[in-house]
Amino acid sequence: MSHDRLLHALRREPVDVTPVWLMRQAGRYLPEYRKLREQAGSFLTLCQNPELACEVTLQPLRRFDLDGAILFSDILTIPEAMGLGLHFIPNEGPHFHHPVRTPADIDKLGVPDMADDLGYVPDAVKLIRRELDGKTPLIGFAGSPWTLATYMVEGGPSKTYQHIKALMFNEPAALHKLLDLLARSVAAYLNAQIAAGAQAVQIFDTWGGVLSPANYRAFSLVYMQQIVARLEPGPDGRVPSILFTKGGGAWLEAMAETGASALGLDWTIDIDNARERVGDKVALQGNADPALLYAKPDIIRTQVHEILTRFGHHPGHVFNLGHGVTPQVDPAHVAALVDAVHEFSIPA
Ligand code: CP3
Repeated sequence: MSHDRLLHALRREPVDVTPVWLMRQAGRYLPEYRKLREQAGSFLTLCQNPELACEVTLQPLRRFDLDGAILFSDILTIPEAMGLGLHFIPNEGPHFHHPVRTPADIDKLGVPDMADDLGYVPDAVKLIRRELDGKTPLIGFAGSPWTLATYMVEGGPSKTYQHIKALMFNEPAALHKLLDLLARSVAAYLNAQIAAGAQAVQIFDTWGGVLSPANYRAFSLVYMQQIVARLEPGPDGRVPSILFTKGGGAWLEAMAETGASALGLDWTIDIDNARERVGDKVALQGNADPALLYAKPDIIRTQVHEILTRFGHHPGHVFNLGHGVTPQVDPAHVAALVDAVHEFSIPA
């Protein structure tokens, strides 16, 4: 049972103990990651080399009793494949040499060729599945169209969303054209991961929460819904899908109508309240504050217990953080959290 409790929970089927995985469970807080990244020379080399991506994916599974592996990659592989020139500036994050600002810029873009431009991603999926050998399920992922568009139009991280929001208000038809292109690209990209063996997929809508309710529905949610509708069955049948809108707590009812199997919650909402609102339409994933990992292990254990108790005796809970593990975290604290989830689980 332990090897597929994650997939059972995502389908709201009974499990022995609550499954747990963590967003950004591979990354800079692990010394073995930092070492490999230094050897590889850059983060993008890790993503684009299937052997290295496979090794990084497996690193956290060797240390912690995790119930899911997540493909090591990035949401920005799609705009990179569209020719925007992705690079990372230390302490600033991702940037593009060629941001997309005008309707004419948008007209020049096309759906990348999954085999020629992004084939390293399904190649990594196949390799990881072979290495996991059925012991742990593999989660594939992509960014939401709105979140990808935010990076592509801003050209990098933003606090004001000046360019993307000006485009949204001034040229909504052009932005819809870009979002439609991204929705078709993301669906093809997730289907390539599923065909290669990804057993669940998550859509990261990191910036959906900066929109008004009406604009969230029009510019983010509808495109995620189109992607969910376009997902194809994999070698073992239909795969569960997880929608994660950071800051999306106010819109869970609408998110639950998309056809997604599960909703990812950030930590600004109580999971019992979320469950009351979505009922048995979807499973829920979350929702510890990522900063909990800065606390002492006994405090981490108490807080894990509280979230499990709030969710209660129901099927359909996957434990996770409300956002990714940060580079400053002590790996021993991650172990404390993962072990506490299994120890205090209330089987449904
Ligand atoms: O969860 C996992 O373990 C899988 C790996 C993963 C990464 N990025 C690895 C990564 C996943 C799922 C992502 C998704 C991603 N990438 C998102 C959505 C999730 C979120 O965090 O909201 C976003 C917005 C991005 C874009 C991106 N890529 C950012 C903002 C950064 C951080 C830049 C920085 O310097 O902190 C990246 C780079 C990145 N992606 C790193 C990792 C491990 C750090 C790269 C490094 O310096 O080694």
